Amino acid sequence: MKKEISRKFCVAPMMGYTTPYARKLYRILSKNSFLFSEMIATKSLINSKSRENIIDNDFNNPVALQVGGSEIDELKKASQIALAYNYDEINLNVGCPSKAVQKGSFGACLMRDKLLVRNCIEALQNAKIEATLKCRLGLGKELNYEFFEEFIDEISKTGIKIIYVHARNAILNGISPQGNRTIPPLNYNFVKKIKYRFPNISFILNGGIDSIDKAEKLIKEFDGVMVGRLIKNNPFILKDVDTKIFKEKNIPIDESIINNYFEYIKPKLGLESIFRLMSPLLNIFFSVPHSKVYKSKINDYMKDQKINLIEDLLIKFISEKKLS
Ligand SMILES: Cc1cc2nc3c(=O)[nH]c(=O)nc-3n(C[C@H](O)[C@H](O)[C@H](O)COP(=O)(O)O)c2cc1C
Repeated sequence: MKKEISRKFCVAPMMGYTTPYARKLYRILSKNSFLFSEMIATKSLINSKSRENIIDNDFNNPVALQVGGSEIDELKKASQIALAYNYDEINLNVGCPSKAVQKGSFGACLMRDKLLVRNCIEALQNAKIEATLKCRLGLGKELNYEFFEEFIDEISKTGIKIIYVHARNAILNGISPQGNRTIPPLNYNFVKKIKYRFPNISFILNGGIDSIDKAEKLIKEFDGVMVGRLIKNNPFILKDVDTKIFKEKNIPIDESIINNYFEYIKPKLGLESIFRLMSPLLNIFFSVPHSKVYKSKINDYMKDQKINLIEDLLIKFISEKKLS
């Protein structure tokens, strides 16, 4: 049986960022946000010797595993792996424009072949896990609603329940993945229109949501929102999601957050780079004045793998700066 889960506020999949460690921190800060892994190519998911480090979940549910791929057998296996690692959802990436991903025949270039995407979603589907899609509005410089609707119409035949839409086109030639997150214009109206056309599918809006206040407003108009860079730059903003969006009590930023996080990462030291383990938490310095001394001390401790000293220093930082 699939569980009923709120996707009112989702943290977007971000390669290099939404690691198991970042997700641990996100979950400590927000009980209600729906989380995503980084995109993982199906081949790596199936064959990687360090699979544990890539997709460990540690009960940070609700959470989706995002995969990139278009080989039917691999997608079927990926879905079984997601289930074995206790993910609530498996999501197909049809939005990444990078050259490497195009070479592997996955990501945004799949929007050219709606039948293949339909087959891919069918391969991911099984009775125990939700299979979902993350896509763009279309391809190239011109926005074309008919193209988007025809694409979604084909995918709707799978019985899919949830689609995340990065509400801009992907441009596959001439601009970088970064450029593809700013240059093609956003169009939230296409997402609104598609919702009326397919009322049985939840469409989660993504792209350009740069404050929790904006997210709060958009949640009233859409089935849910997905937020990427705002959280990447300052994960501690997730505290406001539970208070403002889910109307829960404010949790203070205190020692327990740091202790809880270190409890999870300490046993991983030696199996994983200290930078990957520490980097989500280092955003704690975001826009806090006079934190340079702390940052440089932590850098020194990281070089020497002195994880206990880093923990102590961060606790001191919190009490000194009185973060709330
Ligand atoms: C560093 C970075 C890595 C990303 N990696 C992925 C990814 O692995 N899978 C994916 O579907 N989108 C990826 N994206 C795109 C985001 O999920 C999201 O669609 C995009 O950033 C727009 O949302 P935002 O304006 O809230 O940041 C990435 C974005 C960033 C900034």
